[in-house]
Amino acid sequence: MACESSHRTRQAAAFFAATCLIICQVLKPGASARISRPRKVIFDHDGGIDDYVTLLLLLSAPDRVRVVGITILDADCRVELAWNTTLKLLHTLGHGHIPVAVSSLTAVNAFPDPWRNSVLSVDVLPLINDLTQEELAPLRLATPGEELMAQLLLGRGAPGGGGDAAAAAAAAGDNNNNNHHGNDGDGDDGDDEPITIVATGPLSNVAYVLRKYGAAAAARIREVWWMGGAMWVGGNVVEPGHDGSAEWNAYWDPPAVGEVWGWPSVPLVVVPLDATNAVPVTPELIYRLGRQARYRYSALAGTVWSRVVTWVYDRPNEPYYAWDTLTAACVLQPDLCEKLYDVQSYAVVAGASQGRTVPLAPSPEAAEAAAEAAAAAEGAGGAKGSCAAASPCAEQHGAGEVQRRRMEAEEADMRAALREEASEGGGGAVAVPSLPQQQQHLQQKQKQSHQERGEAEEVVWSATRGVTVVNHVDAEAFYAFVLQALRV
Ligand SMILES: *[C@@H]1O[C@H](CO)[C@@H](O)[C@H](O)[C@H]1NC(C)=O
Repeated sequence: MACESSHRTRQAAAFFAATCLIICQVLKPGASARISRPRKVIFDHDGGIDDYVTLLLLLSAPDRVRVVGITILDADCRVELAWNTTLKLLHTLGHGHIPVAVSSLTAVNAFPDPWRNSVLSVDVLPLINDLTQEELAPLRLATPGEELMAQLLLGRGAPGGGGDAAAAAAAAGDNNNNNHHGNDGDGDDGDDEPITIVATGPLSNVAYVLRKYGAAAAARIREVWWMGGAMWVGGNVVEPGHDGSAEWNAYWDPPAVGEVWGWPSVPLVVVPLDATNAVPVTPELIYRLGRQARYRYSALAGTVWSRVVTWVYDRPNEPYYAWDTLTAACVLQPDLCEKLYDVQSYAVVAGASQGRTVPLAPSPEAAEAAAEAAAAAEGAGGAKGSCAAASPCAEQHGAGEVQRRRMEAEEADMRAALREEASEGGGGAVAVPSLPQQQQHLQQKQKQSHQERGEAEEVVWSATRGVTVVNHVDAEAFYAFVLQALRV
């Protein structure tokens, strides 16, 4: 009996699910967009191992994404090499007409050399090396990457650019072009569709373009998708003089993060460590790519990722993650990634926390944990509030937990102070502090802590703005998506 009724329930559920699917398809605003033209993407990367897998993913779905240009920063790579590697990969896949340029912008805090050197292990791959040095040379655009980004956005084409790159590609015998779509790689193709920037390195190029070309460039950006930041988790920077709260792409150029935060009109989707910590590059993932290695994109992606798989032994607590690849996957398949919209946040652009991104709202999990902790504290007389960095409590919970508690304490502190200010003001109750109020409060707080600690170096905060945060992804769903997408 129970069995039969549960069977009926399942049938009903299946019916509703099917009905909903049909209705949702009709109602979903994205449904018609998907039938229309693919979105234009500038891939702004920094030459790391996962950047090449990310490129494969972006090129795997010409119905959804059209890569119109690639810019490379000298960050998680040796940029001259990364330039060659990117061009070789594009040539191998028949996309040699996409303009690729190297940014002239440099590090505030450089990546560790061993990470930067790892690009060599991709550049030498026999699978991508059928070009001679002589054929490769003319494919290298002289335009600086940051200017190429501006030109593509402002619709002027690449200076001496897209056309030349296409011509050079043809000269290099790039005729295995089975994926060629008309005017790929030509930024000036006469349509005004705003461009999505998929930035998987530091934000330096984006900041440059906004600084130099202002609102004209901002208006041409559909969205910036940025792999960077650590919102409600600890950072991954372990460097002398830094407190460990920042993520590396942000730390490489903290002022650039601050500048992009200063442009609230440019939609920003952040894929922080909070999400990427869920997607390690595992041997199993690479074996699975191997089982479908008859597809060229799978063979290449598996081979590229295999360069870093030993991190699971070398750094068991912090293996290589699919940081950048997850970002591209979220662009291609939005419902893969859980998002929080309009999270007010700011960035620290100098001092011991430089590169830290700070949300002014608790994460869904932290809100829950804080409520539980408050309930427990009532019973225990509030004794278990803080957890100092060098305490046994910190050893037990790890640096991430210390970080999270500190952020929660700061958050609670700010809210209390703002409530106080509001009631002192004598006016009506201010339920939600305005942004200027929040910023003023932060500045006061910053000055105060600066004085208290007698710090020589001034801590500088960016403006506060709303960002969309990808806060969660199901790892297995992500792996399955990548495996499916790379069957090309
Ligand atoms: C990149 O390719 C160019 C052109 O073929 C070559 O001259 C240069 O040595 C290469 N750079 C590196 C760092 O291998």
